[in-house]
Amino acid sequence: MGIHFGVDYYPEHWPRERWETDARLMKEMGVQVVRMAEFSWFKMEPAEGEFDFEWLEDAVALLDSYGIKSVLGTPTAAPPAWIIQKNPEIQPIDREGRRRHFGGRHHDCQSNAVYRAHISRFVTAYAKRFADNPGVIGWQIDNELGNSHGDLCMCDSCKRQFQAWLHKKYGTIEALNDAWGTAFWSQGYNHFEQIGTPLLTAVGENPSAMLDWKCFCSDLIVDFAAHQARILREICPNHFITHNFMCFDNKVNYYELAGLLDFVSNDIYPAGHWQKQPHQPDSELAACHDVIRGYKKKPFWMMEQQSGMAGWEIMGRALEPGQMSAWAMQSVAHGADAVVFFRWRTCAMGTEQYWHGILGHSGNPGRTYHEAKRLTETFAKYMEDFEGSMPRPEVAIVHSFRQNYAFDIQPNHPQLGYVEQLQKYYKALYDKKIPVDFVQGMDDLSQYQLVIAPLQYLMTPELEQHYMDYVEGGGNLVLTMRTGVKDATNLCMTDRELPGRLGDLCGIEVPEYDCLLETTGGVLYGKKEYTIEKWCDMITLKGAQQIAEYSTGFYKQTPAVTENKYGNGTAWYIGTEPGEELMEDIMTYITSTCGIETLGTAADGVEMMTRESDEKLWLFVINHTGDEQVYHLHGMYTLLEGEREEFLQPYEVQLFEGYRRRK
Ligand code: GLA
Ligand code: ZN
Repeated sequence: MGIHFGVDYYPEHWPRERWETDARLMKEMGVQVVRMAEFSWFKMEPAEGEFDFEWLEDAVALLDSYGIKSVLGTPTAAPPAWIIQKNPEIQPIDREGRRRHFGGRHHDCQSNAVYRAHISRFVTAYAKRFADNPGVIGWQIDNELGNSHGDLCMCDSCKRQFQAWLHKKYGTIEALNDAWGTAFWSQGYNHFEQIGTPLLTAVGENPSAMLDWKCFCSDLIVDFAAHQARILREICPNHFITHNFMCFDNKVNYYELAGLLDFVSNDIYPAGHWQKQPHQPDSELAACHDVIRGYKKKPFWMMEQQSGMAGWEIMGRALEPGQMSAWAMQSVAHGADAVVFFRWRTCAMGTEQYWHGILGHSGNPGRTYHEAKRLTETFAKYMEDFEGSMPRPEVAIVHSFRQNYAFDIQPNHPQLGYVEQLQKYYKALYDKKIPVDFVQGMDDLSQYQLVIAPLQYLMTPELEQHYMDYVEGGGNLVLTMRTGVKDATNLCMTDRELPGRLGDLCGIEVPEYDCLLETTGGVLYGKKEYTIEKWCDMITLKGAQQIAEYSTGFYKQTPAVTENKYGNGTAWYIGTEPGEELMEDIMTYITSTCGIETLGTAADGVEMMTRESDEKLWLFVINHTGDEQVYHLHGMYTLLEGEREEFLQPYEVQLFEGYRRRK
């Protein structure tokens, strides 16, 4: 029996006498795994070299006696006070040059050699102690790497490592000066030792330097994790290693971090007070799961699945009956092989007193506990079959950390966000019940009928060629505004009009553009006028066909969206950000032209998603709304779970079985 449901557990926060009750209640709920100890360094090493692992061994053994396995976290996101007292230099420096201090978490510099030595000592002892423990199955390295590291760290150690990283990348200082365009504002360097971390300047910053800095920070975090992975792999060859990612968070390149891991895990909190709405829309959550699956092209674990109202100082909305289960099964539908709920019991102390779990402060099983129990009772039997199966979409959206960095540095328009832009394209497909994969541009695209590559801002000759080959060979590609603008080091392209060589692919040129700073614009598509946002590329046709034209601006009646046959395929160019309605209609046109299958029809808020093994296909229909819904499926399926076909109760999850129909 595999492991499919679990909770994040902190036995050290509660009296020992309670542990057995916890284990029993967990077992009755269907819990098969806990994650523990990812913030418990002080409990495990109260003074340098004095280890106390007994309490954790006791907890692992007790849980194991109830059939519950343990994943242990390395607590390196929270070095204890005695380390900080001894080595205050490991605390990070922010952009204003201030040291950030002990008292929260992530108060560590990830390049610091002294801190690495503390980690080596601790993780080695920890791993040895649990290597042969029958209750332990794997490790989580650190916790949410990149979280809280937004503007950290600018210390001298990080500076020296950044200089070394640049030296290795560019070889000579002349090459760096060229790549960074330091002729501007007298920014030339004589040697690498002059280059600092990006402390706050008087005004402005060099976009090329900032891109390298962000890539360096990502490499540093991967290296920080690799250091621990090496220790764990050597001492615990029979345990898996994972890490809890944060959806689209971009401090570390997750494709690269995934390379160190046996599988990727994710944390998701759809309903918190920081969300713009009571909770994040289901389409955005679906995209999170799809990108997580894409980081390693494999099923994943949910290491923290929201189970209660979330908040630190301020709280979000309470979860409605069934909502947690709908979110959990959404994770499964998109490729989660295991769902671990955060957290078992709401904590009575510390910053996260109001981040609610399966049990409330009182520890009595209530509404959430019983909902979780019903969920595992209903779906545990299928989870075994799902394991290893994958969604197999016909459509891919290109995702890139470097593009994301470039737009963080220069958003072009104040509201333009790279991930938000991907989410807009994603939503149009999601609402049509069309499954999507996220891929990197240079991946093999040939398995996809349609590839959507928004904002291909930084361009390389290799990527240009790759896209041209894909379309030449029969692929269908959507490119958008802000494509081919910059080279790999974030300097503007100067050889040709935009979008560079991809202009041949799209049959267009973009000699001018307009930023819709304080206004929206209009487009005529068919006979209808639609709203567009943020940007207008002024397009000259060079063989392409116009699909839609601007209806506003001095460039009205010129092309806004174009279509071009190239080789055996088609390239579309969308020179603006379509408003929701235009997005929907253009995507209907493009997906139907490409013959993309839709799983069914239903209102927004009703999700359809499939996972497939070599023989079987499972279809999930999920109602993310608090209302009854109806739907219709395109295809023959057998209902495995659910009250009534074509009808959904609020937050109901239905499961169907089918057969693979792939052409
Ligand atoms: C994150 C962390 C957890 C916890 C929760 C709630 O996802 O990984 O340790 O802090 O948020 O704040
Ligand atoms: Zn540092």
